[in-house]
Amino acid sequence: MNDFTGNKNFNISSQTVSASCPSNIALIKYWGKYENQIPANPSISYTLINCKTNTSMEFVADEKFSVQTFLSGNEEKKFAEKIEKYFRNIEEFLPWILKGKYIIRTDNTFPHSSGIASSASGFGAIAKCLMELEQQFSGIQDCDFKLRKASFLARLGSGSACRSLYPGLVVWGTTKEVENSSDLYAVQYPNDEIHDVFKSFNDWVLLIHEGAKSVSSTVGHGLMNTHPYAERRFQEAHENFAVLKEILKNGDMPNFIKLVEHEALTLHAMMMMSDPAFILMKTGTLAVINKIWDFRKETGLPLFFTLDAGANVHLLFPADSDEDKIKEFIVKELLQHTQNNGVVKDVMKF
Ligand code: DP6
Repeated sequence: MNDFTGNKNFNISSQTVSASCPSNIALIKYWGKYENQIPANPSISYTLINCKTNTSMEFVADEKFSVQTFLSGNEEKKFAEKIEKYFRNIEEFLPWILKGKYIIRTDNTFPHSSGIASSASGFGAIAKCLMELEQQFSGIQDCDFKLRKASFLARLGSGSACRSLYPGLVVWGTTKEVENSSDLYAVQYPNDEIHDVFKSFNDWVLLIHEGAKSVSSTVGHGLMNTHPYAERRFQEAHENFAVLKEILKNGDMPNFIKLVEHEALTLHAMMMMSDPAFILMKTGTLAVINKIWDFRKETGLPLFFTLDAGANVHLLFPADSDEDKIKEFIVKELLQHTQNNGVVKDVMKF
């Protein structure tokens, strides 16, 4: 069942619900979108485990619609405005949504300034809370549908958030390589088509630059609309899915590394070729990338990187017998390029 239009028969009451949702890191990147948060190309990400947002949502029925938000106990008026706009936007799918007042409290398990996608975990957790309320008010029972609709609603808040609803490797955007993939919500990449080497991975995020980015993701996506290389990039993402599918099946680590780093550099190359151009990498980002390449050349160990829309570097390496040597190298050689010895350690295991 994929009809997300809301049931007009509902019965509201005051409730407090809560949910937790992790962040995710993309391997094939979403960069560029059409109206209504339709992605210009398919993307795939690892869902993290430790980096998450915990949210509680108090709904007071029959009060005038309003939203109050608290982040780590502090009131955040700007965020409340964003959520209010979001709720108005999704009324078609949750017809009861404007019939009360909300007090939303959220906490992230990772530092706010880290640049880890808090919009992904944040909107993921809010969408889950909304589906808890929907279940109470409209009585839906189908758990798969509830999760799929949460992913659908999260996407309308922030595109990449829709992937955070599922664990493991998650795909968003229609691709012929993944059955049932959709532009409207994310689906889990089939577990039995993933070699074991990819099921237990470290993601250590080096905090090269803490603080606000010079250009937001929303603006970056927008610049893809007039980008001279956009069509080629969207096409390449499709091609990369076919390549990645084989890699995931065969456990082909060298080609996995090649593809993931290429995707990260392509994302930033697109930014540099936008009009106006912008650069989110910092000196430290480039220093770390070069050191990783030298380290791989010298040791042959599988340490590699990906980047989000920011300066921080996600260090990826399998959780196996070589991980101690890699961790030692990170501490000795890479940490010095961070602002305050900042590193967030996460892991993907499924
Ligand atoms: C570089 O999901 O933050 O992290 O849909 O405008 O909220 P909006 O953008 P957002 O973009 C994320 C872009 C990315 C790549 C990715 O996660 O796939």
